[in-house]
Amino acid sequence: MFGARCLLLALRRCSSAPCPKHAQAAKLRVREALEAQEVNRDIKVQGWVRSVRSQKEVLFLHINDGSSLESLQVVADPTLEHRDLTFGSAVEVQGKLVKSLHRMQNVELKAENIRVVGPCDTLMFPFKPRERQPLEYSRQFPHLRCRTNTLSSLLRDNGYVHVHTPIITSNDCEGAGELFHVRTSNKVQEPGENSHFFNVPAFLTVSGQLHLEVMAGAFTQVFTFGPTFRAENSQSRRHLAEFYMVEAELSFTESLQDIIQVMEDLFKTATSIVLSKCPQDVELFHKYVSPAQKGRLEQMLKNKFIIISYTEAVEILKRAPQMFTFQPKWGSDLQTEHEKYLVKHCGEVPVFIVNYPYDLKPFYMRDNEDGPQHTVAAVDLLVPGIGELCGGSLREERPHFLQSRLARLGLADAYQWYLDLRQFGSAPHGGFGMGFERYLQCILGVDNIKDVIPFPRFPHSCLL
Ligand code: 4AD
Ligand code: MG
Repeated sequence: MFGARCLLLALRRCSSAPCPKHAQAAKLRVREALEAQEVNRDIKVQGWVRSVRSQKEVLFLHINDGSSLESLQVVADPTLEHRDLTFGSAVEVQGKLVKSLHRMQNVELKAENIRVVGPCDTLMFPFKPRERQPLEYSRQFPHLRCRTNTLSSLLRDNGYVHVHTPIITSNDCEGAGELFHVRTSNKVQEPGENSHFFNVPAFLTVSGQLHLEVMAGAFTQVFTFGPTFRAENSQSRRHLAEFYMVEAELSFTESLQDIIQVMEDLFKTATSIVLSKCPQDVELFHKYVSPAQKGRLEQMLKNKFIIISYTEAVEILKRAPQMFTFQPKWGSDLQTEHEKYLVKHCGEVPVFIVNYPYDLKPFYMRDNEDGPQHTVAAVDLLVPGIGELCGGSLREERPHFLQSRLARLGLADAYQWYLDLRQFGSAPHGGFGMGFERYLQCILGVDNIKDVIPFPRFPHSCLL
């Protein structure tokens, strides 16, 4: 499919992580710092500590962010030492990149400031510095082994690391129970035999996000693009039981604005690439299927997308002169009719809706700790003609918040591995997913989602 390749290309092009506005120093990946020709300049590096060596006069660290096998040596004054600055902790180091006198490396970072953003419980962490473990050992920790050199060498690429997340999984990431159960077709079980092929119930994935979060603990920018399944019994013009989703996860991201920026960049870059690489194919749709779409798309590419909060959105809907089938109410989901009205109200350009009610969203979204209207740091991107195209959020990285939310949902045992991620060098992070078929609908102006797939997969009678 022409769009898929363009989408992946676009995500790679968006790869320079957004630099927070307040930061003065240029943010570099470890690999960029190691290869830098220009030295004696202020930079900032984010990553995980691979070694700490404290001497009387000087403190040496090695920082790795997954962008290269080699780590960056940081040289600091011993006064910058901190009890949380241990192997495995997530840190942000700011200082001057200088030529190194040591023959083992070209450059090193003379630290002026070191911030531990996520400490690591080194006693509990299953990997130790300079300890080589057999693969059988690492296999016991599938959620942490990407932090070892062996597994990270296997996955490394430029910019975003492309991860093929599993299609069969035991998690229900969105917590909505819209799962297809995977079982063997053997009807008769031997007595005493475990009834689950994988020992636990298994489902077709509803999202690769939780697996991406595992990887975002070793690589600062990761993405996946693959089939996704939802047992939503909806016959709407924008729902499929099997669809494709591109999902990205970024570590060291503390504001929803950073995620929003990547979403907007991805949409605009991918669309520009599609328009320039496949002009005739797109033109055909714009000429015969949806004549108004060309102008709409130009508007979308030209204008900055709008951001409004969920609370503002509900106020706009309440003031709307039109009647809705579902009355808008704070605390209720936005329906397609609401989404379409909001986009129209904002001038037919894409609109980000941020900060949704806490009770509407899945357990992993970051609590905004506000009130009395309690919200989470969630974002949906609504586009003209379709409604929701992308959904994302900041993830809850604070263990006690996550623990109590999972306990309330009765999920604490099942998600112990996910809680583990928050114990060992946890960096603030977030990400989003974009439905590929809805993206095609949006750029081509196709009204019914079943018309952008080669085989209509829904309703069920269409199975070949
Ligand atoms: O909003 P959703 O459910 O978000 C997630 O799955 C997150 N875990 C993503 C993340 O943060 N990594 O789904 C994301 C997008 C929607 O905005 C929509 O475009 C598409 O996936 N989508 C569907 N497309 C077609 N048919 C369906 N049944 C869809 N459900 C979601
Ligand atoms: Mg959503």
